[in-house]
Amino acid sequence: MSKTAIYPGTFDPITNGHIDIIERGLAIFDRLIIAVALNPKKAPLFNIEERIEMIEESLGRHPKVSVETFSGLLVEEAERRKARVILRGLRAVSDFEYEFQMALMNRNLNDKIETVFMMTGEAYSYLSSSVVKEIASLGGTVDGLVPNIVSARLKETFAGTNLTNEGVFPA
Ligand code: COA
Repeated sequence: MSKTAIYPGTFDPITNGHIDIIERGLAIFDRLIIAVALNPKKAPLFNIEERIEMIEESLGRHPKVSVETFSGLLVEEAERRKARVILRGLRAVSDFEYEFQMALMNRNLNDKIETVFMMTGEAYSYLSSSVVKEIASLGGTVDGLVPNIVSARLKETFAGTNLTNEGVFPA
């Protein structure tokens, strides 16, 4: 039976840490669904179309990968897409408590769906989408931390602005 995993996240934006988990997942699963959460609670910098476009451009065409959006419960999305596995990356011990809670809650909601954790490559263990956005907003380089398309989009987004602790000011 073919093994399909769902890899959820806000991906605002996708980073090389996410790609590391996707590549590791692809070595194990027959199909990987990247499920992009609308997640309005997080007030994403990039809208859903932009986030999907950056993911698709970063990964290129891959027969085993599809990129989808979802709102609502992750386990319901997994069920709809016939994925029996939720793939999650662990970066550091600090991720554990939150992931533990989420995995158990998801199991409580649907015990046919299993969460599988993979360790993110150590080079990306300190990376998050927020850190990347903060560096880019302050004019720092994010090359090597994100795919080229993301780095270019961040430069465009923050061009002409200087974000300080007090807000966004024209350069
Ligand atoms: N490399 C680099 N960064 C990573 C990473 C990796 N391998 N894995 C996670 N991150 C970053 C993310 O970019 C994110 O950064 P940010 O907070 O700065 O945006 C941060 O770590 C947290 O990631 P994650 O826990 O995946 O949060 P998320 O917001 O990307 O996704 C959902 C959370 C969407 C998976 C979760 O909220 C969900 O399942 N929602 C659906 C509703 C639901 O079912 N709720 C019940 C669940 S119990």
